[in-house]
Amino acid sequence: MRSLEKLYSELEARNQAAEMAGGQKRIDKQHEGGKKTARERIVELLDPGTFTEIDKFVTHRTVEFGMADKHIPGDGIVSGYGKIDGRRVYVYAYDFTVFGGTLSRANADKIIKLQQLALKMGVPVIGLNDSGGARIQEGVQSLAGYAEIFYNNVRSSGVIPQITCIMGPCAGGAVYSPALTDFIVMVKDTSYMFVTGPDVIKAVTHEDVTKDELGGAVTHNSKSGVAHFIADNDEQALMLVRELMSFLPINNMEEPPIVPTTDDSTREDELLQTLIPADPNKPYDIKDLILSVVDDRNFLEVQALFAKNIVVGFARMAGHTVGIVANQPAHLAGVLDIDASVKAARFVRFCDSFNIPLVTFVDVPGFLPGVNQESNGIIKHGAKLLYAYSEATVPKIAVITRKAYGGAYCVMSSKQVGADVNFAYPMAEIAVMGPDGAVNILYRDRIDNEEVRLQLIEEYRETFANPYRAAELGYVDEVIYPKQTRYKLIQALEMTRSKSQPTPPRKHGNIAL
Ligand code: HXC
Repeated sequence: MRSLEKLYSELEARNQAAEMAGGQKRIDKQHEGGKKTARERIVELLDPGTFTEIDKFVTHRTVEFGMADKHIPGDGIVSGYGKIDGRRVYVYAYDFTVFGGTLSRANADKIIKLQQLALKMGVPVIGLNDSGGARIQEGVQSLAGYAEIFYNNVRSSGVIPQITCIMGPCAGGAVYSPALTDFIVMVKDTSYMFVTGPDVIKAVTHEDVTKDELGGAVTHNSKSGVAHFIADNDEQALMLVRELMSFLPINNMEEPPIVPTTDDSTREDELLQTLIPADPNKPYDIKDLILSVVDDRNFLEVQALFAKNIVVGFARMAGHTVGIVANQPAHLAGVLDIDASVKAARFVRFCDSFNIPLVTFVDVPGFLPGVNQESNGIIKHGAKLLYAYSEATVPKIAVITRKAYGGAYCVMSSKQVGADVNFAYPMAEIAVMGPDGAVNILYRDRIDNEEVRLQLIEEYRETFANPYRAAELGYVDEVIYPKQTRYKLIQALEMTRSKSQPTPPRKHGNIAL
């Protein structure tokens, strides 16, 4: 006989079974490894009480390899929707306690459903990864699931923000969904990503390497550039995602949220007057300038450990999100090399996709010379940054703080690649190359003593190593005092807020990959 009581208790029992996931023993193991469970992670990520789970009772349909009688509701993925700072997000988390969080056809379909919903609603997707990869018992069905997830990642790219946290193993093809998303956060010591692990590498190339060296959070944040953020633990990773989300719109048709501030828009900073040394060869930390000019000294640096010669990240000015790109004279003199070009190009394209204005601080001696750079393709990689700036139609504002030499002048948000407002400091030097190099080439046969050489260098410096030639030509709109930078940028951002720049009709451009 059907009774309401029985119906409710069945639902209760089914919910409980899903929430117990792989069982207490496996949950304890997860905790002992310093990791939270999938549900704990989601609860920590979202605003309290906002999570709604979907597909909680989905199970796999495999019968091979003894799977017929092994069913755990949810099948190793927890998915649904909720809010971050009151704004909607879709979220899924691999549950390592259920079949090692492996991907089956059934749970792949849960992720795909979520991706499709998110795209329709114009809401970001956040994925929390902790998985043994393709579920071996499922064969090609699992691979098909991955491929469809990748396909949906690409369809969503540039439409909704996609963010991935790697919070456990992530091996094989499983790494490619994260790689197709906009940002990857990795947790130190507990997470790793690689296409083939240490054992396969040993067998194929005879190289000895640990999991951590090969694909740990430090490796991917500092060497490969695959990851964008590093966190000490699960909590910190999830807080980072919340912080990152606070700078982003929920889709490409919306503006980023405005966060009111008490930081005065007209605030001047006397310290900036002496930040940039008069000696052009002396380094300084560009982050001092960034922190000084943004709201409340709040700057979320992206890829802080990778290609440190360029700094990228998010901040707000007068409450509005900006994407900052800045050469870093304190590291390799701020030179543009392959890694710096690729890092900045990807960031510029992200900002352009999501209506985030670009503020660029330029102090760059040029592209890095060297056989290694040339043979590894500095031409095509440098072209990526040129392409990204030229293609970007968001407001583009630049400040030349000191050197803007050679091709690097063109690349770094010059007027000629479509920047809207270009400022320079009085100590700016804008020329084809630095005075030493220029004199050596121009007067190669005519320099017979050091005194003459120094005199010629001084002459060149007087002529070109200043912002006024560029200002006379209108390539620089205004030469400003460093202390006024914040106000000048805020005015320029306000002035360009209504920017509208159509692009020629085409399927898509062909960036130099
Ligand atoms: C099925 C798997 C599994 C897998 C783990 N498990 N990986 N089941 N398919 N791929 C199960 C284990 O049998 C175990 O089940 C549970 O998950 C937890 O795994 P453990 O090994 O006990 O955990 P741990 O010691 O922490 O090691 C985790 C691990 C290891 C490093 C991830 O399990 C591992 O190496 N797994 C294989 C990884 C892999 O090669 N995946 C395929 C990658 S190729 P019980 O019941 O004992 O709890 C790929 C292709 C995709 O993904 C291509 C897409 C294009």
